[in-house]
Amino acid sequence: MDERHKILVVDDEPNNLKLLQQILKDKYQLIFANNGAKALQVAVSHHPDLILLDIMMPDMSGYEVCGKLKADPALEDIPVVFVTAMGEQDDETHGFDVGAVDYIQKPVSGPIVLSRVQTHLSLVRAKDLEDLAKSSILMLGEAGHYNDTDTGEHIWRMAAYSAAIARAAGWSPHQTEMLELAAPMHDTGKIGIPDDVLKAPRKLTAEEWVIMKGHSQIGYDILSQSNNPIFLMASEVALGHHEKWDGRGYPNNLVGEEIPASARIVAIADVFDALTMRRPYKEAWPIDKAVDMIEQDSGTHFDPTLATLFFEIMPEILAIKEKWEK
Ligand code: C2E
Ligand code: SIN
Ligand code: SIN
Ligand code: FE
Repeated sequence: MDERHKILVVDDEPNNLKLLQQILKDKYQLIFANNGAKALQVAVSHHPDLILLDIMMPDMSGYEVCGKLKADPALEDIPVVFVTAMGEQDDETHGFDVGAVDYIQKPVSGPIVLSRVQTHLSLVRAKDLEDLAKSSILMLGEAGHYNDTDTGEHIWRMAAYSAAIARAAGWSPHQTEMLELAAPMHDTGKIGIPDDVLKAPRKLTAEEWVIMKGHSQIGYDILSQSNNPIFLMASEVALGHHEKWDGRGYPNNLVGEEIPASARIVAIADVFDALTMRRPYKEAWPIDKAVDMIEQDSGTHFDPTLATLFFEIMPEILAIKEKWEK
């Protein structure tokens, strides 16, 4: 099988097609179309990785072709680069409006074509990898809740709460986004807890509780296998999310700021979410009661500064909750 990226080149001028073919043929698999209708057909049948699209064509303009591609869910992700003669794109924004990612000027130069094509193909790869990473995070989150009654919703909702608290605490956008991706994995270690403990529709026995508490360390052991910064943050969150401000948490009885800030934030988000949703062993609490409990436990269970921020952003928290209830 030809592993090279597939590029669809669309132009009504045979000479232009030939020129682009010369430039691209050594590095890419090429498909050609000499009008818009054919381009759309070929896009459906061959699903190229990128489309180089002439703007001025009889019958159907490049703009129109691009608009149709972007309106088709099966084709909308294919990046489109317009290849345009001088003066054709007086209205440069038009191309971007219809969804193109870039322009290349005619007469085309080989190095410019190659470099632009490569850029947009590696952006595609970056996007694929981002999807892959997010899916992996979701799956690890799900693994932790596989035997639980809650679904993926809990994972992303509590991640959104965590991000909101981090933002309120002055974390940078980058750190906040990292926490939003790390937080969903906080209970990954539940995968190592036997069914009959995790699923018990009742209060746990003392013995079972010892087993249950092991999920923090198990999560850390799994997630710290990776050196990726998001997974390192996730492992720190997994280990520390049941520590308490007064040192009475588990597994390491850390006190106050010994507990990583990420874990102190997730502790609030996790408990608020756990209380306000149904569990096999308990009904959902009304929001007021959950807020009261966090307030009461501020300074013992929870970091009091973060708890105060959490109350201040309550409208945002409730908006997140509502969004996920739909
Ligand atoms: P979880 O259900 O995701 O709960 C996360 C945390 O939210 C709990 O951590 C606790 O701090 C808080 N929380 C949840 N429900 C309640 C509640 O009804 N009352 C109060 N005061 N706090 C609540 P915790 O206690 O360390 O528990 C960790 C995990 O252990 C829980 O995660 C759950 O999976 C399991 N677990 C805890 N208690 C029980 C239980 O009585 N029966 C069963 N089957 N599992 C339990
Ligand atoms: C930040 O301020 O962006 C990070 C804070 C932290 O990790 O504690
Ligand atoms: C337990 O001791 O079984 C759990 C207590 C709690 O949910 O906080
Ligand atoms: Fe937990």
